[in-house]
Amino acid sequence: MTVDLVLMGLPGAGKGTQAAMIVEKYGIPHISTGDMFRAAIKEGTELGKKAKKFMDEGQLVPDEVTIGIVRERLAKEDCKKGFLLDGFPRTVPQAEALDNILNEMNRSIDYVIHIDVDREILMERLTGRRICRDCGATYHLVFNPPKQPNVCDKCNGELYQRDDDNEETVANRLEVNINQQQPLLDYYRNKGVLKTIDGNRKIEEVFQEVDTLIGSLDE
Ligand code: AP5
Ligand code: ZN
Repeated sequence: MTVDLVLMGLPGAGKGTQAAMIVEKYGIPHISTGDMFRAAIKEGTELGKKAKKFMDEGQLVPDEVTIGIVRERLAKEDCKKGFLLDGFPRTVPQAEALDNILNEMNRSIDYVIHIDVDREILMERLTGRRICRDCGATYHLVFNPPKQPNVCDKCNGELYQRDDDNEETVANRLEVNINQQQPLLDYYRNKGVLKTIDGNRKIEEVFQEVDTLIGSLDE
């Protein structure tokens, strides 16, 4: 059985946080286009150079670039048992391209899990976010603080703030993503795969509902 999932939600909704818990439990690869771009920027590749200027402005990276990297990633061996896409698709052309890619593989999305969070909360979540430089674990200064300030609980790595988590870029990211989100939600609602979860609750409560949903694929 394959478990083919998409996680949707505005910046700060908790996609990355839930994704870490889902992949730990279900053993499927976590495919985050944002993480892939950040890795490319760190390595200084051509892809990284292309992506950086869009990301720094809080704009979307062009569809053709983004679709290309997802197509390559889904062709890898570890996706045979399933995948968790996080932050892709983000536009209707990306969603259509994903359908085509999956069609060619004789597969289709089981669920699009939409983590729905009130907009007023998102700014606070993003500006307070801190990430481990070594293992990528995500924390929040107030909502999910590390045991020792600035030190990762899991690996003792140093915590840092993402370049695009300053107030100005966050405001832009929110606006850009709010505009893109509605047509995408309609697209997946029409296909009957959209599952909306209330993401305004505690991390563990949100995960419980996500977990029940994914577990139901077994039945
Ligand atoms: P990406 O990296 O995907 O960023 P994003 O969509 O802006 O989402 P985030 O990673 O910021 O938020 P999240 O939902 O994962 O929240 P998290 O779990 O960390 O994309 C970055 C950029 O790359 C884009 O702007 C774009 O330029 C480009 N890009 C990526 N994909 C693209 C695509 N498909 N097409 C075009 N361009 C693309 O949680 C946030 C904080 O809140 C954390 O501190 C966390 O601890 C805390 N938190 C989480 N859950 C809870 C909770 N339930 N209660 C309280 N606090 C919580
Ligand atoms: Zn760490």
